[in-house]
Amino acid sequence: MSIDTAPLFQPLRVGPLTLSHRVVMAPLTRMRATVPGCSPNEMNARYYGQRASQGGLIIAEASQVMPGGRPAPSTPGCHSDEQVAGWAGVVKAIHDKGGYVFLQLWHVGRLSHSSFQPDGQPPFAPSPIAIDGKTRTADGQLVPYETPREIPADAMPSYVEAYAQATRNAMRAGFDGVEIHGANGYLLEQFLQQRSNRRTDAWGGAVENRMRLLLDVTKAAAAVAGADRVGVRLSPFGVANGSGDDHPEPLYRDVIRALDPLGLAYLHLIEPRASGAGQREVDHQDVPSAAVMYRRDWRGPLIAAGNFKPDTATRMVAEGHADAIAFGRYFISNPDLPARIRQGSEFTPYHRPTFYSQGEEGYTDYPPMAA
Ligand SMILES: Cc1cc2nc3c(=O)[nH]c(=O)nc-3n(C[C@H](O)[C@H](O)[C@H](O)COP(=O)(O)O)c2cc1C
Repeated sequence: MSIDTAPLFQPLRVGPLTLSHRVVMAPLTRMRATVPGCSPNEMNARYYGQRASQGGLIIAEASQVMPGGRPAPSTPGCHSDEQVAGWAGVVKAIHDKGGYVFLQLWHVGRLSHSSFQPDGQPPFAPSPIAIDGKTRTADGQLVPYETPREIPADAMPSYVEAYAQATRNAMRAGFDGVEIHGANGYLLEQFLQQRSNRRTDAWGGAVENRMRLLLDVTKAAAAVAGADRVGVRLSPFGVANGSGDDHPEPLYRDVIRALDPLGLAYLHLIEPRASGAGQREVDHQDVPSAAVMYRRDWRGPLIAAGNFKPDTATRMVAEGHADAIAFGRYFISNPDLPARIRQGSEFTPYHRPTFYSQGEEGYTDYPPMAA
C-alpha cells in the first residue's frame, strides 16, 4: 500500500539553511578512513556523494576531536590538517550535488583503549569505572575494557578546547555545521549519567555539574561556528555502550531545557527503542518516544532517529512530534533514500556484516533505483 509521504518533502529551515526535504542521513561510523592518519579519502567522498541530494542534510559520521578519543584505527578524525583536507573532499562531493553536511564530533572516553592513547596508558573518562564487555586493541585483539583514568579537573578545559578546535577545522573543511555527539554512551554522555560519573568536583554530582561539559563544549562550538550551525545529538533512555542513569527522565529534561536558549541549529534525539549503533534488528517498541516526551522543552528544529520507516516517519512529522527524521541503516543500503521514499519505491536490504568492514563492498556498491 503506498502512503502519502508529502509531509517529509516540505522545506525546513535549519539555522541559515533551507532544507528541501526532511529525510536526513544519520551519522554512521563505517571505519573506512585511511590508516594511519584517520583521514577521510576519495572512497569516503564517493560514498557520501552518492547519498547527497539537492537540499538534503547529511550528518557525517562521528569524528574524534583528539587522537585518544577514538575507539578503532579507522574512524576519521578532525584534529589534523591531513584530515581537514580529506574532509574537504567529502564536503565538495556533497555540495556539488546541492546537499548540506554537518560533521559529528565525538570523543569516546572509556570506550577507547590504551593502544590508542598517545602515552599507552588507559583512556580517560569522568571516573575510573570500566564498562562490562570487550573491545578491540589497535592490532585487533579482543580484550576486556580497561578501567579508565579519571580526567583531572585541571585538564577539563583542554577537552572543551579540543571540540572548539575540531569545529574550527570542520568549518575550514567547508562543513555547513557540526553536531556534538552527546549520545550512545560516549564521553559527553558518560559525564551526564551517574553510572559513569562519580565525580565530586564541578563536573559531577548535581545534574548541572554533570551537564557542564556538554554545555561548555556546545557553547565553545557555537562561539566558533555560530550557534545556528551547531546541533546536539542525545539518546535519552538509550541503552548503548554501558550507558544508563537512574533518573533519565528529569536528567534529559534539564539538559534539553539548558540547551534550548542557546539558539542551536537543531536537537537530534535517538528514540529509546533503537540500540546505539543499530546492532539489534528489532528493539523494544513499548517504550515512550523521546521526541514526543521532550518536544515541548525544545523550541528549535527537532530531528528524531531510530527505526523509522516511511510511514512512521511521515506520521511523526505530520503530527508535529518532529521536524525531520534521520535514517541510519537504510541510508547505508539505499544511496538515493529520499527519492525512494518520495516515489514509494522498495528499499534494498542492508548487509550487516559490511557495516564495519573495509573497502567498497557494502559501502559504495549499493545501486541506485533502476531508471
Ligand atoms: C553502522 C552504524 C554506525 C553508526 N554510527 C553512529 C555514529 O557515528 N554516530 C551516532 O550518533 N550514531 C551512530 N549510529 C546510530 C545511527 O545514527 C542511528 O541512530 C541508528 O542506526 C538507528 O537508526 P536506524 O534505525 O534508521 O538505523 C550508527 C548506526 C549504525 C548501524
